[in-house]
Amino acid sequence: GVPSLIRVTPSMLKQHNGRKGKLAWSSYEGKVYNITPYLPFHPGGEGELRRVAGKDGRKLFMEVHPWVNWENMLGECVVGIMVAEGEGQD
Ligand code: HEM
Repeated sequence: GVPSLIRVTPSMLKQHNGRKGKLAWSSYEGKVYNITPYLPFHPGGEGELRRVAGKDGRKLFMEVHPWVNWENMLGECVVGIMVAEGEGQD
């Protein structure tokens, strides 16, 4: 079905840093992705992918492999859209 996207503020994104049992989220061009299930499968290693957990991953991603299509790979893992602080939902 159509996934319901949640509204994610910068502070909510930061909380999902993949540490202490928390999910790892990363944003890319205004969309927020749950990268947790992909961590063990990342060809560049889990540690490298964890560097973008809780952050906007676009810059680092593009520095390393601009030929990889983030949206194609993680389209199923989209959880929300970035909104301004105070306009989110938990
Ligand atoms: C390799 C996906 C984020 C570092 C790869 C490859 C894919 C991939 C498909 C293989 C590319 C190829 O062989 O042409 C992704 C996805 C990401 C992501 C979907 C975001 C969610 C990152 C980040 C970093 C990184 C943030 C660095 C901080 C690397 C490195 C390799 C690699 C170093 C090369 C591994 C090797 O060939 O030995 N990644 N990646 N990736 N990735 Fe990522």
